Amino acid sequence: MSPLLPSARSDVPPFMVMDVMAAAARIEAAGGRVIHMEVGQPAAPAPSTALEAARKALSGPLAYTEALGIPSLRARIARHYGERHGLAIDPARVIVTTGSSAGFLLAFLALFEPGARVAIATPGYPPYRHILTALGCEPVLIETTAETRWEITRDMLLATHRQKPVDGLLVASPANPTGTMIEAGALKELIEAAESEGIRFISDEIYHGLDYAFAAATAAGMSPRAMIINSFSKYFCMTGWRIGWMLAPEALVRPIERLQQNLAISVPTIAQIAAEAAFAGRDEMEAVKHGYEENRQILITGLPKAGLEKFLPVDGAFYLYADVSRFSNDSFSFAKAMLEEAHVAATPGVDFDPLRGHRFIRFCYAGATAEMQEAVERIGSWLGRA
Ligand SMILES: Cc1ncc(COP(=O)(O)O)c(C=O)c1O
Repeated sequence: MSPLLPSARSDVPPFMVMDVMAAAARIEAAGGRVIHMEVGQPAAPAPSTALEAARKALSGPLAYTEALGIPSLRARIARHYGERHGLAIDPARVIVTTGSSAGFLLAFLALFEPGARVAIATPGYPPYRHILTALGCEPVLIETTAETRWEITRDMLLATHRQKPVDGLLVASPANPTGTMIEAGALKELIEAAESEGIRFISDEIYHGLDYAFAAATAAGMSPRAMIINSFSKYFCMTGWRIGWMLAPEALVRPIERLQQNLAISVPTIAQIAAEAAFAGRDEMEAVKHGYEENRQILITGLPKAGLEKFLPVDGAFYLYADVSRFSNDSFSFAKAMLEEAHVAATPGVDFDPLRGHRFIRFCYAGATAEMQEAVERIGSWLGRA
């Protein structure tokens, strides 16, 4: 019998943060106490309103829902755009997804043919390029730098497009791993430039709500043709519930509905019920956000004293992306040594940036405030700065 070889398109790279997590688990199994700043997720649970709604729902049947989602949830999400951004959004354009991860899959399938070239920023969230590759599309990495606040600009997009045309552009604000944000004017310029060239625009807004430097602007208010991806994972602390949404251009709603019917039937019902109730728990989530703001401040003031004084603007999400090149040109070894010797886990930048990630590490500051202070002290004494 011939060997059962996997398809070439399934050959996507692993997520290196998993290796850091495994090493941290080994230290903990041996009795060490690790401060976890490697995984990009909130430590807090979902809002109590969501938990209560989910508990109640368990006593009845949990059947499939409509492929696009429970109508009252879709209406609630549409109302959220009115409350937060003053926008009137037709609930018919809201599509409930299994986390934003499924939103990307549906968006890419609905927007692009195999072979399509889709521009994304580097550093950036690795699954963008891996999902695109698995679908037979080509991720086109645009290198960002401090000169443009680590964001893709209109000129960078047009220069890339002139070199070899791209079919799509995906941007995230706030972004992972950098925590940087695009200002409203720059986002609008980027969307206008993309649309004038027929480039399809996708906006990853999953860290909306977690903005500190200035208010995050939604692409939803800038173009009805933009594809908006969002999620309950981050602001609403619901990573494991696997629930998100997209706001699709009207013409793509029915194609996405057909895709969802075939790929997933519908999104887990209990997660949809909990998500709708989560909006009533915003006060709790604002308190969680204040905790992140405190953590952010501790790192911004503490890390330079500990020896890590070079990092990107800490605008939003819960990430700080630090340049460690003064100490090492191999961020994987740096993160490994910091974990083993200081018991602070962070993610090496190589996951996010194949070109320059060897110089950076990402800290996630979604943990307990007391731990942030301790992390800074541990790093300081490890780097000989305490
Ligand atoms: C920028 C970005 N987009 C999307 C996701 C996927 O999140 P989820 O599928 O939980 O909505 C993540 C997860 O960390 C992320 O950082």
